[in-house]
Amino acid sequence: MKVLICGGAGYIGSHMVRYLSARGHEVVVFDNLSTGHREAAGKATLVVGDLLDQGALSSLFRAHHFDVVMHFCALSLVGVSVGEPYLYYQNNVAGTLNLLQAMHVAGVDKLVFSSTAAVFGNPETELIEETHSTRPINPYGASKLMVERILADAALAYGLRSVTLRYFNAAGADPSGEIGEAHEPETHLIPNVLRAALRRGGGLKVFGDDYATRDGSCVRDYVHVNDLASAHLKGIEFMEHQEGAHVFNLGNGQGFTVLEIIEAAQRVTGVEIPFEKAPRRAGDPAVLVASSAKAHRLLGWSPAYTDMDALIESAWRWHRRPRF
Ligand code: UFG
Repeated sequence: MKVLICGGAGYIGSHMVRYLSARGHEVVVFDNLSTGHREAAGKATLVVGDLLDQGALSSLFRAHHFDVVMHFCALSLVGVSVGEPYLYYQNNVAGTLNLLQAMHVAGVDKLVFSSTAAVFGNPETELIEETHSTRPINPYGASKLMVERILADAALAYGLRSVTLRYFNAAGADPSGEIGEAHEPETHLIPNVLRAALRRGGGLKVFGDDYATRDGSCVRDYVHVNDLASAHLKGIEFMEHQEGAHVFNLGNGQGFTVLEIIEAAQRVTGVEIPFEKAPRRAGDPAVLVASSAKAHRLLGWSPAYTDMDALIESAWRWHRRPRF
């Protein structure tokens, strides 16, 4: 297959590039490098451009014939999205519309779209299925849900086939140690824990110790990036014989508290990790755990990384290396 990976220089996208390239597929990356890294695109053809630039998209689709598109580009900081909603809707919704229109003109009819657990807002149940109500509580989650709606409409109007994957907490790194999570600023837990182990960064904070969980800290469902990549490939296979717009949750189905993650990281690194307790972070639900039963059933997907220590070990290998 020839696959366009929008956002292929970013954290999850770059793992997808490697995953597909290793399986003999031809990959073209389109990325504006705003948060991505040129090196992360590896040996794939990299076209530097922005989804808000319709001319750049037209040229891209004129220059290549793609069998399928994967769309990882997004602004994804929940807190920032609250203060800058126009920016988030423009980038995540208008940018995606440009991509969809370029695909339509070029006759490309398959898309795998990256969505998020943030579409659910404050969960009503601990184990979240796809049928759970979607009431996002921030512009980031709302922007992703709007695209989900657009994809459902496009399936009816134009026959666009799509698989939307709602990631829970993407984590870990390719075992090669050559690519990994490299955000600046970094807001995610596992990289911040490992930076603290390396005595980098401004000191680890645990946001909230009074949640109604087993140790008072938030529970999340961490899923390895390469497991996300394998789900994307299965999504493409699924679209070969399924019309319509389909939505799947992706997680490990097991929750870990923030303090349990720190303990696991101490086991893996052999280092005592200093942290301080801090007030709750605005907008954090107490517990977010995915039911991935639908992805198991219909995509035949199951995560390979079910052991937290192995997941953290993969991230540790990356964080110990000099960064881009
Ligand atoms: N946390 C800390 N200290 C840190 C960083 C995080 O205590 O330095 C805590 C957070 O408060 C939260 C947990 O660790 O309880 C996980 O936080 P992350 O920032 O790693 O991930 P989130 O669960 O906030 O974010 C994920 C996805 C988002 C998505 C969101 C939906 O990364 O894209 O879930 O709620 F929008």
